[in-house]
Amino acid sequence: MPGQTGPVTRLHDADERHFASDNYAGAHPEVLAALAAANGGHQTAYGADVYTARLQEVMAAHFGAGATTYPVFNGTAANVVSLQALLPRWGAVVCAESAHIQTDENGAPERVGGLKLLTVPTPDGKLTPELVARQAWGFGDEHRAQPGVVSITQSTELGTVYTPDEVRALADQAHGLGMRLHVDGARIANAAAALDLPLRAFTTDAGVDVVSLGGTKNGLLFGEAVVVLDPASVDGLPYLRKMDMQLASKMRFVSAQLVALYEGDLWLRSARHANAMAARLRAGLDALDGRVSVTRATEANGVFVVLPPAVSAELRRTWRFYDWHPDSGEVRLMCAFDTTGEDVDAFLAELARLLDA
Ligand SMILES: Cc1ncc(COP(=O)(O)O)c(C=O)c1O
Repeated sequence: MPGQTGPVTRLHDADERHFASDNYAGAHPEVLAALAAANGGHQTAYGADVYTARLQEVMAAHFGAGATTYPVFNGTAANVVSLQALLPRWGAVVCAESAHIQTDENGAPERVGGLKLLTVPTPDGKLTPELVARQAWGFGDEHRAQPGVVSITQSTELGTVYTPDEVRALADQAHGLGMRLHVDGARIANAAAALDLPLRAFTTDAGVDVVSLGGTKNGLLFGEAVVVLDPASVDGLPYLRKMDMQLASKMRFVSAQLVALYEGDLWLRSARHANAMAARLRAGLDALDGRVSVTRATEANGVFVVLPPAVSAELRRTWRFYDWHPDSGEVRLMCAFDTTGEDVDAFLAELARLLDA
């Protein structure tokens, strides 16, 4: 039409990559191919399809024959559905102050789930039995929300990883108190890669009851799952998933992605690569002779470093990354399955140039 202007937004360059989040990455080509293969023809809706059936088998191979898997759309939902299924209406969740359920889910476990979070500060994002004990009290006191679940994140929001023994200690404590252990596994693949252990070694075999299983950060378009390891720990999960608006009608497309990721070694290959890129970044930062200070252990795919504010501002002309503690200048640098060695080296070279300027 004369006088009408077209769109002005330029679409992105497919070679553009950043260190802001593993969610900035696109979908892995093998996942896209699996989606295309799952397309066409008709399949029963709402999860009674062959891809969701196959997903049950794939997850049983990872977590044991007793595992039951419920695909959902995103990680917040996996956490909310898990915690609701694990707890009565009056229940509470003990978690780290830095837990995603506390910091980044807009209160969804509390507002949508109706559950209280009882938080504990930690030095490194990891709970210990001593830290849990600070909030796991008041059982039988009607004035206190009843602690019913300990929720840990693996790998943690601070880039650290629990060992199987550390998980086992938390499970034993929780079970001894009549509580359950939930794992927010949005980055569970990065933990497995870091530990060089199968998934069940630090979940099923360590006493975990329910896992929020990650997919999106490791190469899916979207899609995560609730994996129930102890069926006696949950109640009403299928109803809760629907009530929480997480029952995909065309579930085959969520399940096909999860199958593509977890059936072979794509999940592990991708996570190992992301971790290796974080290790390369960390080594490069360490080599800057104390001109920047790395603040946390680099065990998975995240690196935390304090940068001079003026340097951060200049770096951001090219690279995106998040402030972690704006007051201290600490930033978070995340690597993804598609981060390249060249990306890391270019970032480090630019950082070194700015520090020298
Ligand atoms: C530890 C952790 N849990 C869960 C999630 C899932 O969140 P979302 O609802 O954005 O998929 C994230 C995403 O950043 C996360 O970092």
